[in-house]
Amino acid sequence: MKRIFSGMQSTGQLHLGNYLGALRNWVKLQQDYECFYGVMDLHAITVAQDPKKLAQNTREVAAAFYAAGIDPKRCAVYPQSAVPEHTYLNWILNNHTPLGWLNRMTQFKEKASKNKDQEVLGLYAYPVLMAADILIYKATHVPVGEDQKQHLELSRDIAGAFNRHYGVDYFPLPEPQIMGEATRVMSLRDGTKKMSKSDESDYSRINLTDDADAIATKIKKAKTDTLPFPATLDELKTRAEADNLVTIYATLNNEAKEAVVNRFAGKTFSEFKTSLIEVAVANLAPITKRMADYMADPAEIDRMILKSLFRAREVAEKNMKEIKQIVGLWSAD
Ligand code: TYM
Repeated sequence: MKRIFSGMQSTGQLHLGNYLGALRNWVKLQQDYECFYGVMDLHAITVAQDPKKLAQNTREVAAAFYAAGIDPKRCAVYPQSAVPEHTYLNWILNNHTPLGWLNRMTQFKEKASKNKDQEVLGLYAYPVLMAADILIYKATHVPVGEDQKQHLELSRDIAGAFNRHYGVDYFPLPEPQIMGEATRVMSLRDGTKKMSKSDESDYSRINLTDDADAIATKIKKAKTDTLPFPATLDELKTRAEADNLVTIYATLNNEAKEAVVNRFAGKTFSEFKTSLIEVAVANLAPITKRMADYMADPAEIDRMILKSLFRAREVAEKNMKEIKQIVGLWSAD
C-alpha cells in the first residue's frame, strides 16, 4: 500500500512557497495514496510561539489545507500534538540517531546561527521528530519542497538504523517526493533567498491570506534585473529573480517554463508582471476566500479535524503496539 505523510508547521501564515512546493502537490496525490497531512504544532514550538495564537494558527493551517482542495473524507488532517504516538516514537528513535548525523543538518546550523544564545534542544532534535511523524504511519512517500530533502534523507537513515538494530524489516524507507518546477520558491526581494515566513519583509512573500491588491503590489515591487525579459531558458537560468517569477507563473498556470519564456520574449517585465498578477490572483483568490470562510467558523474547523483525526490515531496506536513489542517495552496485553 502506498501511504503518504507530510506536514506544515503552524507558525503563522502560509505562503506561495508552501503552496507551490507542497500543498498543491498534496492535493494531486490524494487521488492515488492514503494520505495523512499534519499541522505540525510541536515543531512550531521549537521557536517561541504566543500561546494565545498557536491553536488559532493551527486551525488556520488546517483551513488552508481544506481551502486548497485537501478532501477530509479522503485524507486525515489533524494537529501533530493530537496523536501522542509521534512523540512516543520520537523518544525511541532518539536512541538510534547518532549525534554526528544531527550535526550535519544545515537547517539547524542556519537557524541556530541566527539565534546563538537561544539554541534549544528541541531545535536540534527537530529532524528526529520529523522521522517519527513519518515512521509512526509507516509512510512510504513524503511530498515536500526541496528544503526538506536533507531531513528526509535522515529519516531514511534512522528507519534503516532501527531496522538493523532490531533485526527487523519494520519501517519502510520513506521516499521524498519533490515534484514539479517550484520546489524552491525564492523571495520576491532577493532571488538567492528562499521565500520564508521568517523573512522580515512581508514584500518578500505572497501569503495565502493576501487579497488581490496585496498580491498586485508585491508582484509589481518584486525585484527584477535591468535587462529585457530573457529570450531563452538558458538565459533565464542565469537570472535568479526572473527565473523565480517565471517558475511561479508556469507552475500556477500549469505550463512549461519554456512556453512562458517564448510568450514574453522581447516584451517588458512590466507586461509580464501584469499577466503574472492576473494568473496569481485567479489561482489564489478562490483559496483565500475559502480560507476566510473556514476561519469565520473555527468550531467547524475543529469538527472537521475531529472527523479525520481518529484515522490517524487508529494507525498510530496499532503501529505503536508493534513497535513496543519490537523494542521489548512492557505491555499487559
Ligand atoms: P514548513 O512548515 O517549513 O514547510 C511546509 C512545506 O512547504 C515547503 N516549503 C517550500 N517549498 C518551496 N519553496 C519554498 N520557499 C518553501 N518553503 C516551504 C516545505 O518544503 C514543506 O514541504 N519540518 C517541516 C514540517 C514537517 C514535516 C514532517 C514535513 C514536520 N514533520 C514530516 C514532512 C514530513 C517544515 O518545517 O515545513
